[in-house]
Amino acid sequence: MKNPGQPIAVMKDVTKSYLKGRNSFQVLKNVNLSIDMGEKIALVGPSGAGKTTLLYLLGLMDIPTSGSYTLLGSNPLALSDSARSRLRGQTIGFVFQNYNLLPHLRTWENVALPLHYSGITRFN
Ligand SMILES: Nc1ncnc2c1ncn2[C@@H]1O[C@H](COP(=O)(O)OP(=O)(O)OP(=O)(O)O)[C@@H](O)[C@H]1O
Ligand SMILES: [Mg+2]
Repeated sequence: MKNPGQPIAVMKDVTKSYLKGRNSFQVLKNVNLSIDMGEKIALVGPSGAGKTTLLYLLGLMDIPTSGSYTLLGSNPLALSDSARSRLRGQTIGFVFQNYNLLPHLRTWENVALPLHYSGITRFN
């Protein structure tokens, strides 16, 4: 899975709905996409179009309501929550729209925290 041009993330008929009160509100409707190794993609659309929702699904922060997702040749949706989180930690880099920094930690501690979770304790 290291050659440029190979698909690394493939979504088929992905939908995502949120519950609003008792009603289900569909944000993503039948998303089909394939992202190749080395490809650079810009996701554009008006506010509320579902860009962050789609990034969360691609980045394993959330799971689709229906459809399939293949990441690096395997199905992350078949994994347990903790296994999926581990895979996310090992394969996905995320810059959050709202930063998601922990205010009680220093800057370097915010940087070090995910490294700690990945078992990296120090650099030589
Ligand atoms: N956790 C949630 N629960 C309920 N509704 C949500 C949730 N997250 C997003 N939504 C709704 O889904 C829709 C898409 O939101 P999303 O944040 O994906 O849009 P966006 O394209 O990233 O917008 P922006 O450009 O403002 O960042 C919006 O109507 C939003 O209110
Ligand atoms: Mg957004």
